[in-house]
Amino acid sequence: MKATVLLVAGARPNYMKIAPIHWAYRNAARSTLAMEIVHTGQHYDPSLSDDFFRDLDLPAPSVNLGVGSGSHAEQTAKIMVGFERVLADKRPGMVVVVGDVNSTAACALVTAKAQYPDGARPLLVHVEAGLRSRDRTMPEEVNRVVTDALSDLCFTTCRDADANLLAEGVPAERIRFVGNPMIDSLVRCLERAADAALLRDLGLASRGFGLCTLHRPANVDHRESLGEILDALGAIAADMPVLLPLHPRTRQRVDAFDLGDRLLGLARPSRAHPSRGLFAIEPLPYFEMLQAMQHARFVLTDSGGIQEETTALGVPCVTLRPNTERPVTITDGTNVLAGTSRQGILEGLAEAQRKTARATGAPELWDGRAGERIVAVLDALAAGAEGGRRPARAHRAAAPLGEARWSDQ
Ligand code: UD1
Repeated sequence: MKATVLLVAGARPNYMKIAPIHWAYRNAARSTLAMEIVHTGQHYDPSLSDDFFRDLDLPAPSVNLGVGSGSHAEQTAKIMVGFERVLADKRPGMVVVVGDVNSTAACALVTAKAQYPDGARPLLVHVEAGLRSRDRTMPEEVNRVVTDALSDLCFTTCRDADANLLAEGVPAERIRFVGNPMIDSLVRCLERAADAALLRDLGLASRGFGLCTLHRPANVDHRESLGEILDALGAIAADMPVLLPLHPRTRQRVDAFDLGDRLLGLARPSRAHPSRGLFAIEPLPYFEMLQAMQHARFVLTDSGGIQEETTALGVPCVTLRPNTERPVTITDGTNVLAGTSRQGILEGLAEAQRKTARATGAPELWDGRAGERIVAVLDALAAGAEGGRRPARAHRAAAPLGEARWSDQ
């Protein structure tokens, strides 16, 4: 019998991480897996969800929990209640969670405690494990720590993540360095991105504009911090157009704090060929975002994933945060930590442009094949090729791979 594998996605940054796993599963000859996608519904706007499934050639989820927005506790709790029912119904052999959003931690908690009537338990697998900002005021950091502590198998994107997990006592047998699945999506979709209409519609030339994304609560939920960041962006935009695709959270805050006068609107197609100004636009679909990143002269962001995508593309990146869980983008890539003060941002921009010239290229195993490596490991586990066994449950004391026999269904 095939092993049912549930691939969980909840929010925008998850889709480009699950897609390469699903592509590799579909391409694998004689896979022993039966993979299904579960969407928690954490993100529900079409511009943050459906459009990405279409662009990334993902099938519709077999389940959508439709949890929507709420406080952290509300959202996490709703996902847990819904996902527990899904586990009881589908009895998967494995649950794969990706990244660090509330959906990741909620489904990890439920999976780690699940036991089927016959005593079998699902295996919990975390993709993009081991990243640490060491800043527990970030909800994502809490989600990462919790998820990794519970996971039976941790797939990592970089060597520093392996070191973080080992330092926290995760046995080496549970850690697999496989590379970065988000870069698989980027590699596969760059050609399609070249055909996107964004630059043409907006009258923008390659390297003739800047790009900024902002959504982190610490940056946008307070009037002073959001106002200071918009001031710095305004100074940068005095010389060239800067695009600001607005996340719904940021749009709400700009309105609530009455900061809309700092932003210009930009209709498409635009005949204006903007030469300067800070332009608020709708959230971009995946191909258009890739096109914008690839052709931007620089990117300013508080996102995690964009730090990695700009490093892979060789585009200067200024991170509007005091820390990062992705230090490889600083040591090997084009990223600079700038914080959120106006002066820090302006200095960071100059530094990012200088260091891009010296960047050493894509980090190890960011080669477009992480999804294949992940599916190969999962397939081998399900087929019993790893000694006919599965990794011991993470919450048992430091047990190596293979104490309990693989059992599915
Ligand atoms: C979430 C993730 C963050 C990720 C980001 C990418 C957590 C803790 N945070 O943050 O790591 O980088 O997604 O976008 O999981 N909203 C809509 N439509 C939607 C979704 C949200 O309007 O489809 C609005 C809601 O008012 C909501 C707010 O945006 O309250 C924030 O959404 P939420 O999912 O809670 O967190 P994000 O800020 O998107």
